Order: sequence, then structure tokens, then C-alpha cells
Amino acid sequence: MLARFAIPALLIVALACPTSPTWAQSSAAGATLTVHADQSGPVISRDLFGQFAEQLGQGIYGGVWVGKDSKIPNVRGIRSDVVQALRALKVPNVRWPGGCFADKYHWRDGIGPAEKRPTTYNINWGAPLESNAFGTHEYLDFIEQIGSEANITVNVGSGTVQEAADWLEYLTTDQPTTLARERAANGHPAPYRVKFLGIGNESYGCGGPMGPEAYVERMRIFSAMVRNLNPAQSGPSRFAPGPDPMRRIVVGPADTEIDYTEAVMKAWQAGSARSRSFEALSFHHYTSGPLGMMRDSATSFSEKDYAAFVKNTYVMDELISTQSAIMDRYDPQKKVALSIDEWGVWLQGMPGVPPLFLKQQNSLRDAIMAAINLNIFARHADRVRMANIAQMVNVLQSMILTDNEKMLLTPTYHVFRMYVPFQDATFIPIDLAVDRYSAADTQVPQVDGIAARARDGKLWLSLTNLDPTRPADVTVAATGRPIRGAVGELLTADRVDAVNTFESPGIVVPRPFSAQAAGGPLVMHLPPKSITVLRLTE
Ligand code: AHR
Repeated sequence: MLARFAIPALLIVALACPTSPTWAQSSAAGATLTVHADQSGPVISRDLFGQFAEQLGQGIYGGVWVGKDSKIPNVRGIRSDVVQALRALKVPNVRWPGGCFADKYHWRDGIGPAEKRPTTYNINWGAPLESNAFGTHEYLDFIEQIGSEANITVNVGSGTVQEAADWLEYLTTDQPTTLARERAANGHPAPYRVKFLGIGNESYGCGGPMGPEAYVERMRIFSAMVRNLNPAQSGPSRFAPGPDPMRRIVVGPADTEIDYTEAVMKAWQAGSARSRSFEALSFHHYTSGPLGMMRDSATSFSEKDYAAFVKNTYVMDELISTQSAIMDRYDPQKKVALSIDEWGVWLQGMPGVPPLFLKQQNSLRDAIMAAINLNIFARHADRVRMANIAQMVNVLQSMILTDNEKMLLTPTYHVFRMYVPFQDATFIPIDLAVDRYSAADTQVPQVDGIAARARDGKLWLSLTNLDPTRPADVTVAATGRPIRGAVGELLTADRVDAVNTFESPGIVVPRPFSAQAAGGPLVMHLPPKSITVLRLTE
């Protein structure tokens, strides 16, 4: 629990004022960090760094897909600047087609010659016309171009089991079935690889609505009937799992709900060891500030507002603990992963863009919230083995914003790029003795951090000084070995509400950072409102 505390009257005045570039800076706090380099925890799955790309607003159309005849440089209709930027993130998987869109989506609308595809409505998101120009093959082409893996959510709410089973046969069989021949005629003779299958989305809400028991009944049938037939992944029958079985993700709860968790985990436990119905449970939670979802400003906020975001971000830790405790009762060996496949800050939309397109700016504050969330996931890596930030381009807490031919990388993009060394690295415990950041009713440690050993043996550290005004001088030591230095990158800016714009895309960008232990311990100076990712030299 985060404690409330008394704030002096002068500070209250400062906190109540709108954002200002001159939030008073204060002198550095001291901190000590011990890296337990001789111990190790679970692997931080690369899939914690997944992306979500819903057919929503400009997330796909304009953001990823510009069409083959566009003046914007593209490969088979997919914009090349976005592909190039995403390749640097080593995106492990991209969740598609939704979100709420998934339970209205009929895959046959998105295959075959573009001019013959039906025009439909995107009924959840302001009802713009949906040309279906971006469909199955375009998505999988995009996945291949960025070097990622498919994470496809099938339509449980308004689709049939047969429709979903046919989609997977169309995608994955290597046998000359009618569906495989249709896939070949549409340009892809070889079976596709589908690593993850979502069985519906938010079936308690936009994907239903269904109560947990009704969902469980439907989920069990989908999970048994919708099969991946790719021989490189699956065995000959559902009792012979094959070399690289597709992982099925079922609908779990949002926020503080627990009914779905109880119901689906009970169903999982009831399945025999050879016919479990899923491998991961989905969980959704978005962060907002004092005003609530879609209402907090993306670009103008006081320190009091900022402090509320910090406090609300740490709620993720409590929510994961609650969900994990329930899962532990049914699955103490932690075979089922918790997949936080929608998370991020949900802010006021950009002026001039339809509100239901969910296009928002993204500041240094949001980058700091992303780093805190990634650290929370890493600390729960034994159970949390997947996560997908919402969303990848032009929607919610995106990596990239586009405007016709223009493109920019958001501060959150830079966090994901800086965190690449943590993909599949082994968690290393740390002790961090640090002052508290105190503002309004938020009181949390000033510095949040994780350490991990990458697969090449290198030791990595991420430290976020979340205090917007106070630097931190962190003295670093490791058990069992000296730390000689650190080299990496630092992300900060003059203001915590700083954003990148098409006119000035370089306001919030990482810069090189290094520190050496000159005959004594290694001391690192962390500026206020900064994220530092470093390789330690042992
Ligand atoms: O990410 C936007 C929407 O939020 C998704 O479509 C839905 O699943 C969630 O409610």
C-alpha cells in the first residue's frame, strides 16, 4: 500500500500550478545499489516486449499500411520507415486484429484480390469504413518484414468455431486441402507460422458480453477445434504436441476483476495433462491520472498530476500479485503464463483526430511509466511471460506517430529500444536503498530498477529516476565481483512533459552514458526524470 503523507502549504501551491518548465530542482539524493550477480531468477521472456496493432483509427491504415500505389516508400503496401524503426525493437510478436475489432472480424473479408474485398464498418471505433485492404496476408507480410511472430486473435463473439478452425487451416496446413490451395492462389504456398492464438478478446465486454461460465464453455470448444496444422509446430494429433506448439491465450479479467481468472483456471485444472485448453491467460489494465481514461492531458500537467500517474502505475504490481495468487492455487507450477496483452497510458486524444481513433501524444512522463511497467513485469517474470503495449503505431501509448509521409519515434519507443538487451535475459536480484519520491499522496522509492544477465553473459542494469526534480547519485556494487564501469544510454529531456513532434523529433532521444569506478566504487549520477540502461563491466 502507498502511504498518504502531509505536504507543506508551499508545496501544495506548487503542486496545484499547471505545468511549468521551472519545477524547482533540488540537490541529489544518495542511493546504494547491490547487484546480486552470483544469483539468478527466471528468464525475462522476450514476449514481455510484445506489441499490439488493432485495426483501429490510424493504427493500421496510415500507420502501417499505405497501399502499394502510395508515394510513401513501401514494400507491398507496408510503409518502409515504420518497418525500419520497428526492426530495431526486435518486436517479439504483434497482437492483431484486435482488441474489440477481433470479435467483429471475419477473416474471409481480408483475403483475395483487394478490389473484390467487401467494405465493412469498424463498428467499435467510430464506424469508419473498413476497406479490408489490410488482411491476413498483409499482416503476415508485415510480421515477416519486421522479423516478428504472429499473435492472432480469433472471433469468439460473433464468429463460429468453424470459421476460426478454417482460418487456422488456411494459415497453417501443408497438405493440399482446398483451403491450402486457396492460400497458395493468394500468393503463399508455404504454410505460415502462428506462434500465439488469442481465443477472443474481452469477452466480458466488447467481445461478448459473456459471463465467465458462458465464456469457458465456448473457449473449450474453440481451444479443441481451432488447430495449428503446421508440421514445424504441431504434432499429428492434439495428444502429440509437436516441436513448437502454438500457445493459446484465453480471455482473463481486466483491472481488479477476478471472476474470469477463477473460471478459466478451474477449467484448465480440470483438463487432463495432455489436453489442457490453453497456455496463457490474458489480463488488461490501462493507466490514467487524476481525471481518468481518455481525459488526462497528454502534454500539459502539473507535478500533482504526474505524481498520480506514478502512483497509478504501481497499481499494476498489486494487480499482477492478485491475479498470480489465484493462478497459483490452480497451477502452482506456473505452467500457465499471465499475458498482460493490453497495457499503457490512456490519455486525451489529439485535437483534430476523431476521439475514437485514440491517437494521443506521448511524453517523457509516459516513457517513465513504460519503464516502471516493464520493470514490474520483469520482477514477476516467473508468471508474467507475455505483455503487449497498447498500441504500436498512432493509437494510445504508441511507439510511432505518423502524419501522411511524416513519422516520429515517441519517447516510449526509445524505452523499448533501450530495453532490447533484457529480452530473454535472466533476472538478477538487486537491493536498492534509496530515498522516496514524495508528492501529493504519492510516496514511492525515487529510483526503480532491474538487472539481468543477457544470453551472451553480459550484465545489464536499468535505472529509472522517476523524481521529476531531484537527481540521484547511485553507488553500485555487486556481490562476489567488482564493477569497473558502466556504459549505455540515458533518456531524459528538459521537461517531463517534453514530447517529440514532426517539426522537432529529437526533443526526447537517448544519449550515450558511461561511468567508471576510478579507484573506488562506481557512482552514477542519474538526472531527474530519466531512464538509464547500462551494461556493467565486471
Ligand atoms: O486498445 C483499445 C481497446 O481497449 C481494445 O480494443 C480493447 O480490447 C480494450 O478495451
